[in-house]
Amino acid sequence: MSRENTNESGVPAHVAIVMDGNGRWARARGKARNAGHRAGVRATRQIVEACVERDIRYLTLFAFSSENWKRPPTEVRLLMRLFLEALQREVAELHKNDVRLRFMGDRSLLPDDLVRQMNDSEQLTSGNSGLQLNVAVSYGGRWDIVNAARSLAGAVSDGTLTPAEIDEDQFARALSLGGVPDPDLFIRTGGEKRISNFLLWNLAYAEFYFSNALWPDFDAQALDEAIDDYLSRQRRFGRTAEQVNAG
Ligand code: FPP
Repeated sequence: MSRENTNESGVPAHVAIVMDGNGRWARARGKARNAGHRAGVRATRQIVEACVERDIRYLTLFAFSSENWKRPPTEVRLLMRLFLEALQREVAELHKNDVRLRFMGDRSLLPDDLVRQMNDSEQLTSGNSGLQLNVAVSYGGRWDIVNAARSLAGAVSDGTLTPAEIDEDQFARALSLGGVPDPDLFIRTGGEKRISNFLLWNLAYAEFYFSNALWPDFDAQALDEAIDDYLSRQRRFGRTAEQVNAG
């Protein structure tokens, strides 16, 4: 069993989650999709708390993708309002628990009041040293890579960087998660087995775990099952099993 990239208590240092299945959870109960999203916010709160308790260093959540803008405008509006309300309601408690909040994604597309609240929440919690909670909103892995390429190209045209200086480390620093170690464990709920344009660069060596639970039903026990499964795997990072076992 490899303990590489786990913290002292043996949990992954960085967990990334695609929270899927809110709509199906609501439909199964004869409720509107929005009721599923509200239940999804409650599940998110529980999982953030569980990560704090388990001393996980980084949690990155896919809340709204670049492609989710194609959903019906009423659902998009409801989601934006839900994000704003959840943030307004939870930020003080997150701050009290030493959580550092970071948002990633194309803010130019988001409503002004949400962007203001995101900026304020980031600023308020910027000095915290507990769990770093990264929330991807209006985010796409391809957007992230193009954005990084554009900023590096800008530095080259300004003369502050040469093309030869662009290597993997330099490129990774220009991404949204620049400075954050890559996710160790990727979880997707809701039964689908795909990455859906989430952290395309950063998930290169993550262990993948797919749960059939719908996001509103994914609780601390389900998280522990995912972590146990992760801990049973051998991470080789391109090396042979013999090399890894020899340490
Ligand atoms: C996935 O279910 C959920 C979303 C795309 C909505 C965003 C997530 C939440 C509201 C959870 C809370 C997040 C935060 C940051 C507070 P789906 O609508 O794709 O479900 P379906 O596949 O069953 O239709």
